[in-house]
Amino acid sequence: MISLQETIRVPRSVGDCFRYLADFSTSEQWDPGVYRATKLTAGEPRAGSEFDLILNSAGRRIPMRYTVTALDAPRRIDLQGQGNGFSAHDVIRLRPLGPQSTEIQYHAELRFQGPASHVEKLMNPLMVRMGKRAVAGLQQALTPQTEVQYPGLAERVAQRLLLPAALGFTERGYLGMKNKGLPDYLDGQRMVITGATAGLGLAAACELSRLGAAVVLVGRDSLKLARAAKSVRNFSGASHEQVATFEAELSSLSEVKRAGAELARLYPRIDVLINNAGALFAEHGTSADGHERALAINLLCPWLLTDLLLPSLAEARGRVINVSSGGMYLQPLKLDDMQFLNEPYDGSKAYARAKRALVSVTEHWAQQHPEIFFSSMHPGWAATPGVEKSLPAFNRRMQRWLRDARMGADTMVWLASSEAPLSHSGKFWFDRQPRPTALLPGTAVSAAQQAELLQWLANNT
Ligand SMILES: NC(=O)c1ccc[n+]([C@@H]2O[C@H](COP(=O)([O-])OP(=O)(O)OC[C@H]3O[C@@H](n4cnc5c(N)ncnc54)[C@H](OP(=O)(O)O)[C@@H]3O)[C@@H](O)[C@H]2O)c1
Repeated sequence: MISLQETIRVPRSVGDCFRYLADFSTSEQWDPGVYRATKLTAGEPRAGSEFDLILNSAGRRIPMRYTVTALDAPRRIDLQGQGNGFSAHDVIRLRPLGPQSTEIQYHAELRFQGPASHVEKLMNPLMVRMGKRAVAGLQQALTPQTEVQYPGLAERVAQRLLLPAALGFTERGYLGMKNKGLPDYLDGQRMVITGATAGLGLAAACELSRLGAAVVLVGRDSLKLARAAKSVRNFSGASHEQVATFEAELSSLSEVKRAGAELARLYPRIDVLINNAGALFAEHGTSADGHERALAINLLCPWLLTDLLLPSLAEARGRVINVSSGGMYLQPLKLDDMQFLNEPYDGSKAYARAKRALVSVTEHWAQQHPEIFFSSMHPGWAATPGVEKSLPAFNRRMQRWLRDARMGADTMVWLASSEAPLSHSGKFWFDRQPRPTALLPGTAVSAAQQAELLQWLANNT
């Protein structure tokens, strides 16, 4: 038997620590040896809840199933794990040291069975090292982050070179992040998320709900909305009241106006708006009110919706997160042809230009409304229904390297929940770090171009 006993202190209440650890699928955020962890049992974690883990050991993916065998809130969590040829028994004891200070004793026993038991002795130092890294990761995840980490010199050089930058867009970039913890709870806060029926929006809604926020899922299809709300509740254990839905076709300006007015009436206080709905189209097409579709959903919708929700956001001193794309690096604004009429249609270009414009209006809003925190971000490359539909060849070729949706949504959730970015309103983020908005010559938006863009938006929405 391999045994590990580690004790750490963290600046968090014992209730928060218990809540974080009882949902053992958070282990993917703090244990570097866990590639993915999924809660199999719907609802709030309880004795009998099961979790599937995929361990990452020297590049090999090893499946394991954990079961909560006992929960004694907020002091003790017992877990039993079973893999192919090995089993684990983890006991986590929590002791309050003060209102915001907790001691965590992590005791783990690992047993190899059958032929593998012969290598148990050999494996001992490696397993103990991995266990210590996991507990150190837990300590980091439960320590609220107060400062933004800027990319180091090597990373800054890499992000200016195409291939290394692209590698960072894959799951390698996410897995390389040092701190993936999300322990800032959001009880009592309300978050409105557009495009929350699939992909990144749904993943963000799940995580924000697990952090205790009331979420409002905005989508255009009532059936998909009902399914998404159920997934969120299953994931987080939230009640029906904590997961609301709102139906709106967001490529239509009249619908966005209706949605904005109605959401502002329903929710006079909104803590976070995530403008996530977006799409890339292969063919030129127009929305119900005659705008090019990519422009309508990726720029005009967030522009109008944010404007209509400003009073509710100001009331909460809230946050706006605009989901852009790394694709914007490849395009400048094209102010004399916003509707893409003067050249043969290229969906990627139309999408990239709209996303660049969204980043520029984010900078403008940050200057205009200091009481609200504004940010734009890009998620890297994540496997979602949207990517599968709009970029099928890219999706096929890149399948092995793409992030999953929760990896793509991570920076959105962090921007919605962490204190650290609050003093950096208007910035563009990727993997929880501020990033440059232009890399190629001629793609940066000048002050004059931004003014022209704002005038165009005012005249056309
Ligand atoms: N995945 C990536 O690698 C990636 C990379 C860069 C940027 N992004 C950006 O990340 C955001 C989310 O992308 P995703 O990959 O998660 O896309 P997705 O899988 O297609 O999900 C998009 C969501 O937006 C909704 N939506 C689209 N058009 C809408 C409309 N007209 N009205 C109302 N809702 C609408 C979709 O609803 P339906 O299910 O009804 O269509 C869906 O809920 C987008 O802004 C995208 O541009 C993604």
